[in-house]
Amino acid sequence: MKIEIRKINPEETFVLRQKILRPNQTLNDCQYSGDLEKSSSHFGAFANNKQIGIASIYNQNEKGEIEEGIWRIRGMAVLEEFRGSEIGAKLLQSCIKYAKSQNAKNVWCNGRSTVVGFYSKFGFSPKGEEFEIEGIGPHFVMEINLQK
Ligand SMILES: CC(C)(COP(=O)(O)OP(=O)(O)OC[C@H]1O[C@@H](n2cnc3c(N)ncnc32)[C@H](O)[C@@H]1OP(=O)(O)O)[C@@H](O)C(=O)NCCC(=O)NCCS
Repeated sequence: MKIEIRKINPEETFVLRQKILRPNQTLNDCQYSGDLEKSSSHFGAFANNKQIGIASIYNQNEKGEIEEGIWRIRGMAVLEEFRGSEIGAKLLQSCIKYAKSQNAKNVWCNGRSTVVGFYSKFGFSPKGEEFEIEGIGPHFVMEINLQK
């Protein structure tokens, strides 16, 4: 299986966001703030040209504001039948590489508690207490300092 990771437009993330991350929400709900910012970047994973994964990165702090050096990963998802083949890893690494090219100091995400182990593999650590996002479930802020 040939896997390709490439940059995609924000609208190309919506269908997989809905299918994998927000099955109870509308496609409109799957548009996130900052999606259209010029500094944001969106990546798609493709297997023989079928879209099988997504991830996005934004210049955004935990208040949702643009802050120099602070980047947020969001909408990380791989279709269930393609998991466990390093596709998530490639998407996450593409986001981190892009953040580094933008002089990021810190990358963070609201990570579902079920995937804390995934982010930890790449050097992210949980910060603070577990918290609930209504309708989605328990999360931790996960972050990595790229200057260390
Ligand atoms: C999280 C997700 C993107 C990972 O994608 P994936 O392609 O299966 O991950 P990879 O195969 O690249 O895994 C990379 C490493 O992380 C580990 N890993 C993957 N998912 C994990 C999990 N849920 N918990 C702990 N470790 C995990 C893998 O074992 C692998 O480790 P290894 O290199 O030692 O073998 C995918 O499981 C997914 O889409 N989940 C549902 C949506 C979701 O919860 N997204 C995150 C929102 S915050």
